[in-house]
Amino acid sequence: MTKRLKNFMDEQMLMIDDELYSLVEKIIAPKHLKESMLYSLKAGGKRIRPLFVLAVSQMFNNKQKEAYTVAAAVEMIHTYSLIHDDLPSMDNDELRRGKPTNHVVYGEALATLAGDALNTLSFGVLARMKNITPDIKIELINLLSVAAGAEGMVGGQVLDIDGETRQLSLEELENVHLNKTGALLRFSIESGAVLSNATEEERKNLVEYAHHIGLAFQIQDDILDIEATSEELGKTAGKDVASNKSTYPAILSLEGAKNKLNEHYEIAISCLNKLQVDTSILKELSEYIVRRNK
Ligand code: IPE
Ligand code: IPE
Ligand code: MG
Ligand code: MG
Ligand code: MG
Repeated sequence: MTKRLKNFMDEQMLMIDDELYSLVEKIIAPKHLKESMLYSLKAGGKRIRPLFVLAVSQMFNNKQKEAYTVAAAVEMIHTYSLIHDDLPSMDNDELRRGKPTNHVVYGEALATLAGDALNTLSFGVLARMKNITPDIKIELINLLSVAAGAEGMVGGQVLDIDGETRQLSLEELENVHLNKTGALLRFSIESGAVLSNATEEERKNLVEYAHHIGLAFQIQDDILDIEATSEELGKTAGKDVASNKSTYPAILSLEGAKNKLNEHYEIAISCLNKLQVDTSILKELSEYIVRRNK
């Protein structure tokens, strides 16, 4: 990782976390519910989605502090998706972000409800943003609802479960990855463009970039499930093979999955090259995504 990317990440992550925790801490709700919500948020995580919101905003010289609220909103949705993904009825995982999963600590009922609460809170914080025009707010809320719901992440999770009982085709698997993971990454990138009043052309290139970097991100997740240890990942390694899941390595072999990852990475970079602004932070983030070991 370059020194510049490390500085960007360290600096932004502090502000992202401040915004995220303060938005949750100020809600009035049962104490153990808030505790369970904060438990998963504070367990860590790479904060890739919030970092994308900020990287795109900064690329357009947009210094609005509302970008941190949008960043926090997408991290709430992502964290809720992980809490639910780990439930016994789904991936049945006991380790997440280096800690026991939410349901292991708080029980299934509270974990489910903490996920629900993070999901709904994310839309509330967007709706309550100050200094953002109603048009832009509604656009962001609409984009997030599509990205998070049946047409996006939730739909992808459903197809992903189908992939445990039958081998998906590569085309079907690409669709799973684009939805279960790609949709929220796309929102993170597109929302930065929307907040910054990017042109149609800029937005189109960024959405195309998001498509490929989203696929690359989930292919690397599939590869790490095989190549990394639970300790490195902070989540149980080897789960996909154990549950017979359709993944890129399962369909294409490890070698084939790595080639596909590089293909998508190269195309993603070529989309950035079409933009007239300084895309270096996004390029560095892209490289980090495909070379990461956790
Ligand atoms: C894990 O996401 C789940 C996927 C969508 C692949 P991340 O790898 O971004 O998880 P955290 O946020 O760093 O824990
Ligand atoms: C999870 O995909 C994607 C979402 C939570 C939407 P995975 O099941 O592959 O994620 P990990 O590997 O448990 O983090
Ligand atoms: Mg899963
Ligand atoms: Mg999982
Ligand atoms: Mg995985």
